[in-house]
Amino acid sequence: MQLEPNTVSDPGPIPHLYVHVPFCPTICPFCSFHVLRRRDDLVEAYLVRLDTELAVIAERWPDCGPLGTVYLGGGTPSHLTDAELGRLLASIRRRFVVEDDAEIGIEVHPLNVEPDRPARWRDLGFTRVSVGVQSTQDPVLRALGRPHDAATALRALESVRSAGGWTVNADLIVAVDGQDVAADLHRLAATGVDHLAAYTLTVEEGTPFGRRGVSVDEEAERRAIELAAEILPGYGLTRYEVSNHARPGHRCTHNLAYWRGRSWFGAGPSATASLPGAAGGRRLVRNPPLEDWLAGAAPEEEPLDALEVLRVRLLTGLRLAEGVDEAVLDATHAALAAGPSAGPDDPGAGAVAELEAVRARIEDLCDQGRLERRAGRLVVPADEMVVLERLLAELW
Ligand SMILES: C[S@@+](CC[C@H](N)C(=O)[O-])C[C@H]1O[C@@H](n2cnc3c(N)ncnc32)[C@H](O)[C@@H]1O
Ligand code: SF4
Repeated sequence: MQLEPNTVSDPGPIPHLYVHVPFCPTICPFCSFHVLRRRDDLVEAYLVRLDTELAVIAERWPDCGPLGTVYLGGGTPSHLTDAELGRLLASIRRRFVVEDDAEIGIEVHPLNVEPDRPARWRDLGFTRVSVGVQSTQDPVLRALGRPHDAATALRALESVRSAGGWTVNADLIVAVDGQDVAADLHRLAATGVDHLAAYTLTVEEGTPFGRRGVSVDEEAERRAIELAAEILPGYGLTRYEVSNHARPGHRCTHNLAYWRGRSWFGAGPSATASLPGAAGGRRLVRNPPLEDWLAGAAPEEEPLDALEVLRVRLLTGLRLAEGVDEAVLDATHAALAAGPSAGPDDPGAGAVAELEAVRARIEDLCDQGRLERRAGRLVVPADEMVVLERLLAELW
């Protein structure tokens, strides 16, 4: 198993590309992603602008590739036609070398899965398809404001699965009021999917759910995470991230790159990229939303220093069953000590003190058995995964 490097950031080649496709068939009231209803004039402009953006990235990073993972997320990439998807992939292949065995993933909406499409997607080169099922219960789908019923979602999943020769993921939303989570997990796992993502419903301000004051019961959330751990192994699906479960060989390499603190490129409106920065730091780059992005507006950049990079590494890495290599703490110390502002009276010293405080909290959590050391890695034990957010809030 290839784990993350011990350095705080990885300035080497960047083999991961995320492409954001913002168009959706309808807008779901729980969703806080950058999305909009399709308009054909916008799609054409989107594809042209994306081609330019990919050319600029490839020019700025001549040694970046080859790409080992490409992920079309959204929004709803399947809301593009197959010809448009073909153009998008051709743009990527024109600008980057893509490994022969690259993972090329696409998120699809049940309403877009006409029976003849999965085979065409496979011919276009996709190796991984993620279907937004959300639930197998009609009342839950209605409560979520989804524009399809359970039968349509399951038919879409089956048609993607029977095309064969790739990894199939189903997305499920759990802890929805009135949902029988166990029934959803059993029904979806029994379809034979290779990967199952069970996300607890999050309600963000600014979404229709947020405005309506929809709330998620903490106990239901905890129970849903527990049920996934109890039920899914019986179908050969093992948890490798708090919400993600896979058969052997079907984990999502692209998402693993995020969780392991690697760098990636991002293209498309509101896409984010994480790029190496100076002195063990990082640059988070966020594109503007569609209108400004089409007009060529510059992305926002947020520099993260080595301590902030460590914070992200711990808070995302501890979501993984494999945990985080403890050597990142020493690597952070070294980066802070070597930093331009190191010295007894400057902010560098404050950062070192904060790092020591984090180490002390890690010791406390280990003493309480809520964090474990396994072969040099910090790992959250299975029974603590159900209250992970609480643990992470205590840690940092
Ligand atoms: C980009 S969408 C997937 C593809 C497609 N747009 C669809 O909805 O069918 C990514 C996934 O994020 C999850 N998701 C989105 N908003 C969520 C929320 N507020 N809470 C929990 N999961 C959410 C859903 O499971 C969804 O399938
Ligand atoms: S959940 Fe999927 S279809 Fe619904 S608005 Fe979000 S991205 Fe679009």
